[in-house]
Amino acid sequence: MRARARHVWSTATLVVLATVGVLAGCSPGTPEPDASATAQVPADAPYRDASLPVPARVDDLIARMTLAEKIGQLTLIERDALALGDVRTGRVGNVLTAGGGGPRDETPAGWADMVDTVQQMAASSRLGIPVLYAVDAVHGLGHLPGATVFPHHIGLGATRDAALVEEVGRAVAAEISAVGIDVTYAPTIAVARDDRWGRTYESFGEDPQLVAELGAAEIAGLQGDDLADPESVIATAKHFLGDGGTTGGVDRGDVAATEDQVRELFLPPYRAAVDAGVGSVMVSFSSIEGEPMHASTHWVSDVLRDELGFTGFVVSDYAALDLIDGADGLSADEVATGINAGIDVVMVPTDADLFAGLLTGLVESGEVSTARLDEAVRAVLTVKFEAGLFESAGADPARFDEVGSDEHRALARRAAAESVVVLSDERGMLPLAPGARVLVAGRSADDVGVQCGGWTLEWQGRAGNQMPGTTIREGASAIADVTYSADGSAVDGSYDAAIVVVGEQPYAEYEGDVGDGDLRLTAADHDLVARVAASGVPTVLVLLSGRPLDLTPELDLVDATVAAWLPGTEGDGVTDVLFGAVGATGTLPVSWPSSVAQEPINAGDGQVPAFPFGWGITYPAR
Ligand code: GLC
Repeated sequence: MRARARHVWSTATLVVLATVGVLAGCSPGTPEPDASATAQVPADAPYRDASLPVPARVDDLIARMTLAEKIGQLTLIERDALALGDVRTGRVGNVLTAGGGGPRDETPAGWADMVDTVQQMAASSRLGIPVLYAVDAVHGLGHLPGATVFPHHIGLGATRDAALVEEVGRAVAAEISAVGIDVTYAPTIAVARDDRWGRTYESFGEDPQLVAELGAAEIAGLQGDDLADPESVIATAKHFLGDGGTTGGVDRGDVAATEDQVRELFLPPYRAAVDAGVGSVMVSFSSIEGEPMHASTHWVSDVLRDELGFTGFVVSDYAALDLIDGADGLSADEVATGINAGIDVVMVPTDADLFAGLLTGLVESGEVSTARLDEAVRAVLTVKFEAGLFESAGADPARFDEVGSDEHRALARRAAAESVVVLSDERGMLPLAPGARVLVAGRSADDVGVQCGGWTLEWQGRAGNQMPGTTIREGASAIADVTYSADGSAVDGSYDAAIVVVGEQPYAEYEGDVGDGDLRLTAADHDLVARVAASGVPTVLVLLSGRPLDLTPELDLVDATVAAWLPGTEGDGVTDVLFGAVGATGTLPVSWPSSVAQEPINAGDGQVPAFPFGWGITYPAR
């Protein structure tokens, strides 16, 4: 196990860094810790001694911290809004590169430089407390062209393969830790109960037990056996609690349910995540019976921490405290409410000075007790010590080649194959024969961005082929005699079969909410399917989507339908199944509606879906 490259910085470097800190926004006027508490820290201070138990190191460190430094450990700022000087003075202890963020140099080295610059500034601070650097690696380091992008959770849910999900977690951890990332805001362990929700694809499915099993598996992969392993990262179970159960599937909406119903449906994945030792939990924007989760002492402290025994740190969602009172802008009351409810780290995420000023006043007035402040500081420092960050932090250039490695892409291809669900095959046309003369139709057949969906290259995802990968068209062309026709116009009776690929354009969060829409294909996609199927050539419809769609208008037009979900960069995993190189094994992690009018539709609710939870036509590899 190679230790992460530890940047041993010379005095000259530290002087430069300190200067950089000044130039980078830490103006000479930035208040230093008050003189009485800024005694230089002896090199042999107990908190620096890795042989001591973590609690003893935390106790020693907290005793040395000024109020400003303690508040800094509760402060999470987005990289694009970060003044590096605030890291040097200890006023910011947590940093996030949000979806779509990232360095101009879009390479592992560029990412490593971005992260290491922040860690170097942290190392030059008075106490040398490392930063927790986070990204949303929800299906790989999707921000970075060239990284491996795995199937989104709904596809992994269709695999029902916990061992595979753990391997995926391990591979994601390897790629992001190589560039110096410490925390990923994954896994989402939402139980998706209404497919109209824009984040359905981030869920493993509608069943609490399935979500619990796969969420714990991903956490095991991400965190490994030892959080201090340089190839481990801190996982974040999210979003606590009930984000997938809102009325109408409205993102950030309200869950109308009794406490017993909430406990039965949404708590099992968190019990499993806590038992798996998850390092962090992120609170949900949503509410339960009108109570914002970011204000809920009952759920965050009484249940998550006291009843489930969670010992990591609780992080708020992006500027979520600002919304507690329903109005924009962060108030002292909202800060007090969130922190007193049990939130330890606040994703501010842009105005560190405002947050520090509000919290300083709250501590000085006693509205946030020193005991509560120290409890929150203790929670985040404990994880930093357990992750070994005081001993080694930052990127490992020797492992840059793991980003997008052939090994990881092969794993992603296997995961994509296992996620494929064959919904219908009336004429038994699947698997197709290798070498067959096949028409491949549809723009989505040639689009890695559509395969990847949201949280890829940017928050909302991006159609097109800027993310290196293999399209379904390319995968099929490697196995068969393929003619590609984006609009299907090339179809004629001479083909042995046709593959029509349709689906959703990328989206994320509330941008993907269906609202009062109809869950149907676009008119253009429907017409494409009809045009190809009318040729009489045996036709299989392949759907790339973050959720079940209402295929009622298409089911009778085609001979087979396949749900490929959002398979990621390795679209050849899908064609492996279509041509039988790999058997069809996927089964539905959600009930498949025959109409949006059925939503929410879930197993056991008395409705008759188009295809039930657990459905999938299977066949062996050729
Ligand atoms: C977003 C999401 C959350 C994500 C966070 C940081 O709003 O709700 O899942 O981790 O902000 O990007």
